[in-house]
Amino acid sequence: MSVFNASRLIGKTVLITGASAGIGAATAVLFAKGGSNIILAARRVDALKSVAEACTAAHKESGLQQGGKFATVQLDVSDKKQVASLFDKIPQDLRNIDILVNNAGFVLGVEKVGDIADTDLEAMFQVNVFGLIAMTQLVIKDFRARKTGHIINVGSIAGREPYAGGSIYCATKHAVRAFTGALLREVVDTPIRVTEVQPGMVETEFSVVRFRGDKSAADKVYEGLQPLVAEDIAEEIVWAASRPPHVNIAELFVLPVNQASPTINYRGGK
Ligand SMILES: NC(=O)c1ccc[n+]([C@@H]2O[C@H](COP(=O)([O-])OP(=O)(O)OC[C@H]3O[C@@H](n4cnc5c(N)ncnc54)[C@H](OP(=O)(O)O)[C@@H]3O)[C@@H](O)[C@H]2O)c1
Repeated sequence: MSVFNASRLIGKTVLITGASAGIGAATAVLFAKGGSNIILAARRVDALKSVAEACTAAHKESGLQQGGKFATVQLDVSDKKQVASLFDKIPQDLRNIDILVNNAGFVLGVEKVGDIADTDLEAMFQVNVFGLIAMTQLVIKDFRARKTGHIINVGSIAGREPYAGGSIYCATKHAVRAFTGALLREVVDTPIRVTEVQPGMVETEFSVVRFRGDKSAADKVYEGLQPLVAEDIAEEIVWAASRPPHVNIAELFVLPVNQASPTINYRGGK
């Protein structure tokens, strides 16, 4: 018997963006273990298929009879047309979404203001901000009409405190925090729940993407301390989603034990 009740996840339908890797993939597997149905969305279809297989295995292992329907959808959240037509690609029986996890996001580079390429700054805003807003706008009317729903946005420590070399990423995650806060206030008269999860350092493909494929530069980010892993954040997301309907976990700020802020950490302990 587990300490916390996760039975509320059974039979729920969860849409996760950025489900092909890292936090999104780990979150999908954990929801699958909890008996949910999942729509896995991202750009890399092959990676999504592997995560869907892991979901099937996790669901089987759980022994639960309900849930266990997994669909993969190729989606670039920065492409307005793809977002607008997303429901056409989702199987009919998975179109009533209960939980949207707005997880797709990324950072590019560590350039200082003045040296940032327009293409990089536009791409980060397109995905982290406009994509997240577009996905939210896509489901919120239906949530209001059905008087249900939970939107879980993956923000960041970078949305709480900016740091040098991260101006654009920090600006996008501050925007996510502001948008999420406004949304929380707008739906206060409804049963809709709104959560923002703000991770500190999590070792995923995140830093490899930031350093444009340079794995050794990425590894240095985590040198000397034990970072979080994707499963740590997945647990927080799934925990927030499984709280009773009258409980809304508005914010979760989750750090590795040796990190206190984007720039304050202790690297002597590993
Ligand atoms: N890792 C950290 O230290 C950390 C800390 C705080 C917050 N976060 C946030 O956590 C979230 C997940 O990051 P992660 O650490 O799991 O990184 P990751 O391993 O690089 O995963 C990022 C995911 O986002 C997807 N994605 C990127 N661009 C997309 C787009 N245009 N459309 C749809 N999906 C897209 C990727 O899939 P495809 O490439 O297949 O599209 C991938 O599945 C992000 O929002 C990130 O900002 C991460």
